[in-house]
Amino acid sequence: MQNVQRIVLVDFGAQYTQLIARRVREANVFCEVVSYLTPLSEILDKKPVGIILSGGPASVLDADAPHIDPAIYEQGIPVLGICYGMQLTAYTLGGTVERAAQREYGRIPVDFDVSSPLFAGMKAQSVAWMSHTFHVTHAPEGFTSIAHSENCAFCAMANPEKRIYAVQFHPEVTHSEEGQKVIANFLYNVCGCTGDWTMSTFIDNAIASIREQVGPNGRVMLGLSGGVDSSVAAALISRAIGERLTCVYVDHGFMRKNETESVREVFTKQFPVNLVIVDARERFLTKLAGVSDPETKRKLIGGEFVYCFADEAKKLEGVEFLAQGTIYPDVIESGSVKGSAVIKSHHNVGGLPADVRAKFIGGLVEPLRMLFKDEVRRVGEELGMPHDMVWRQPFPGPGLAIRIIGDVTPEKVAIVQDADAIWREEIDKLPMAQRPSQYFAALTNMRSVGVMGDERTYDYAIALRAVTTTDFMTAEVTILPTETITTAANRIVNEVKNINRVMFDYTTKPPATIEFE
Ligand code: XMP
Repeated sequence: MQNVQRIVLVDFGAQYTQLIARRVREANVFCEVVSYLTPLSEILDKKPVGIILSGGPASVLDADAPHIDPAIYEQGIPVLGICYGMQLTAYTLGGTVERAAQREYGRIPVDFDVSSPLFAGMKAQSVAWMSHTFHVTHAPEGFTSIAHSENCAFCAMANPEKRIYAVQFHPEVTHSEEGQKVIANFLYNVCGCTGDWTMSTFIDNAIASIREQVGPNGRVMLGLSGGVDSSVAAALISRAIGERLTCVYVDHGFMRKNETESVREVFTKQFPVNLVIVDARERFLTKLAGVSDPETKRKLIGGEFVYCFADEAKKLEGVEFLAQGTIYPDVIESGSVKGSAVIKSHHNVGGLPADVRAKFIGGLVEPLRMLFKDEVRRVGEELGMPHDMVWRQPFPGPGLAIRIIGDVTPEKVAIVQDADAIWREEIDKLPMAQRPSQYFAALTNMRSVGVMGDERTYDYAIALRAVTTTDFMTAEVTILPTETITTAANRIVNEVKNINRVMFDYTTKPPATIEFE
């Protein structure tokens, strides 16, 4: 990322590292995560306006504890240590770190010295989130305590002259009442940041670097899934090189209602690219005929998908670059930040055969590589992409085929598409804050007797799902207004053919999964 101020966040393996980076960026300052193994010279090459040392699971007193080049404190660059970062700073600079008599954990009232630039504009006492067993008992020379709690004399310490600050609590978590203020104070009062990290600067920068990477005549191919990341990547690359980008979209026929049309509309009119829509609906239906087992469905669809995609890639002449919608959590989680060289391949293209991959001698174009998901969505909005595309919920690669229990037929696909569209329409009437994290309809394989007018029916039951989750690893059932559910149920039985019963899935994850497959 050129031409923007940068904070380097040195990661010591904290569970909150990504959160710290996100908080810094929310304050409109670019933040890059590096491993603690990164040599100081490499950190300095990045010309940071400030350095943050993260928390971490180790104790500085352990023989194998991660350390840092002490020269980092002598560069005239402001430093903020958080939790382990504070203990490391104290230890490295000659202070004392000891095991606390009592572990401090949870929401702790802390008294702040609000005359310090780090705590300017804050209340003299507020709650901060603590989680530590060790603490600083003597600060290094030149440092004084600027915050304390009942059990901890050094909840924060500072050497204002050298602009080195450290906090024992976690300002990045929302349980710390004024945490975001502490982060903003460090950025603006200590590092002198100007707040130049905005999505419009990002877009300008990204467009310039795509043009530079690809050159005046280079051609790029991107696998467009209709998901947020690949769609925003496509829109951005389209802005940079227009029709020199070819997007390949494989329509397996299990997309949600109108999804393919919306992709076609956006990428032919609003962000013109060479769009190849592979109509593989027949091919996938034939492949899945009579298959009921969900894992087999997934495998068949995954295999066929790569095959379709590779076929198209082979046909494209003169394309040297492959674009991917890789985002920052993929990069961080892949281990590339943690010192290993493994980089996760994007799910769309990771399985491409070697001869197809070999075609892309120009390399990878990954314009979203440094962005978090919420930033990707903001870029999409800033580019003027449709709201539905930018705020799309997670959607499984195999699509509605796994939201149909039992075998998949074109009739069943149409039923689930129509019911799902109604369910989404009704939920989308609710204010943003009341909406579930994920909601969809699934077709149970159950048929039962109903009555319509004077006639008995024997039709399918549709299941509605609505869950609230932050990480999708566990999920709660969303409590929705009764009217939303009853209106949707009435509309579904009236408007969707072959449905005479609507059920609501009241199961959390675990024991159920979010998908109904
Ligand atoms: P489960 O059903 O395992 O799903 O609770 C957790 C989250 O992952 C999504 N999901 C997928 N996403 N490809 C994806 O990109 C897939 O094959 C896939 N399967 C499940 C699911 O929608 C939920 O958000």
